[in-house]
Amino acid sequence: MNKICMTEDIPEREARSFDIENGDIIFITQRDGNFFAYQNLCPHLQTELEFLENQFLDQDQEYIQCSTHGALFEVESGKCIFGPCEGDSLEKVAIKVHSDGGIYLEDQ
Ligand code: FES
Repeated sequence: MNKICMTEDIPEREARSFDIENGDIIFITQRDGNFFAYQNLCPHLQTELEFLENQFLDQDQEYIQCSTHGALFEVESGKCIFGPCEGDSLEKVAIKVHSDGGIYLEDQ
């Protein structure tokens, strides 16, 4: 399994992006102690979500937000609840938090 980072690298209600070995760019965010990872691709135009580095959340840090047209996505499900791709979803990346505090990519 490939280690991506440590849990302390991703504070609650913040997000970080990572280039992973297969060339994909993903981001991980923490909400209520749980970690969620998605491909960094907006389902609307397949562009990267963030404009500023690691800025994946809206102003209230409640939803994931696409910086291009402002689509909002639920942190836990990746589902778009507002914007031009409403009803579509971000592509989830399977991760696991291990007892060593590392966040790992799950084997596909
Ligand atoms: S590209 Fe993300 S909302 Fe349009």
